[in-house]
Amino acid sequence: DKAGHKHFMSKEIAEQPRAIAAVLDAYLGESGAALALPAALDVARAERVLLVACGTAYYACLTAKYWLEQIAGIPAEVDIASEFRYREPPVAPGTLAVFVSQSGETADTLAALRYVQGRAAQIVSVTNVEESSIAREADLDLQIHAGPEIGVASTKAFTAQLSVLLLMALRAAEARGALDAAALADRLSALRTLPALVTAALETDGPLKSAAAEVAEARDVLFLGRGVMFPLALEGALKLKEISYIHAEAYASGELKHGPIALVDNTVPVVVMAPRDALFDKTVSNMQEVMARGGEVLLITDAAGAEAAGETVWRRIVLPTADPMLTPILYAVPAQLLAYHTAVAKGTDVDQPRNLAKSVTVE
Ligand code: M6R
Repeated sequence: DKAGHKHFMSKEIAEQPRAIAAVLDAYLGESGAALALPAALDVARAERVLLVACGTAYYACLTAKYWLEQIAGIPAEVDIASEFRYREPPVAPGTLAVFVSQSGETADTLAALRYVQGRAAQIVSVTNVEESSIAREADLDLQIHAGPEIGVASTKAFTAQLSVLLLMALRAAEARGALDAAALADRLSALRTLPALVTAALETDGPLKSAAAEVAEARDVLFLGRGVMFPLALEGALKLKEISYIHAEAYASGELKHGPIALVDNTVPVVVMAPRDALFDKTVSNMQEVMARGGEVLLITDAAGAEAAGETVWRRIVLPTADPMLTPILYAVPAQLLAYHTAVAKGTDVDQPRNLAKSVTVE
């Protein structure tokens, strides 16, 4: 049932405020004023966190690395499951290993989980299916409570995974004394505004639909982001490739001049994801390098960022201003909408893109 939507993907994009609220309900305790992750989650004694996944779930893990390092001060490493399992790396003592998978059945992620059994201090899974193989074989499973996701392109599962991983980072910060009670209370009250912020982010639908009509004509699209926006750029490029079949690549903004800028001309739209944070000015200078070469910039930012960037930018998509900790979740929404409307404009099969399966149970 598409609930009045043309595609499951658009229904699932629209469901995100509710999906995120479900995560907060599950893990914030009744008053919403305290973290209520299972006591068994042993972040207090972990010396490092290892996160392993595939595809969009891998980008959720990359985002979590920034949170774990910056909010909790805990070293975090991220790996692609299919690389990790065959590399057979040493697993340092005191490693908390986290496996993220919507389906809970991805063969490479499951094999990676089995590899760390007996090596990691604790194995935690973050899945959307309680009865799945990955959930069953982990020491502890954290459900993302997103409800069934039908579209092959993952949307609400991604933002729900991010929400759970952010709560995990906050819990690690609390357990390790990186945030005191007052600072944690501030973070939690910011977090409680997230469903409303995501609802507001959905209002970028119209402007993105109009930009997508032109993006649909492109052969290549570049996505740029710095800091925690880098994994979001990767996610935006993956979404666009999967459903519109347009070649899209993402780079950390600082890497632009180390190669990819050679690709830029007036046929390559460049999507820049940059809230007005501490890194904004650096990203704007990368954006200007793109514009000087004729590149058409679609800037996804907030009101202050849109104003600072000025009117010479091809398109400005304005999201609500938010706590920097929340921006990855918020900026996922326009990345999804851009891919969705581009695919619709091209007339591709949005929910069942060619060559892809919802659950990759082959290796
Ligand atoms: O079920 P999983 O989360 O383990 O799936 C991982 C990837 O196959 C998945 O995220 C894939 O990249 C999606 N099609 C992305 O939209």
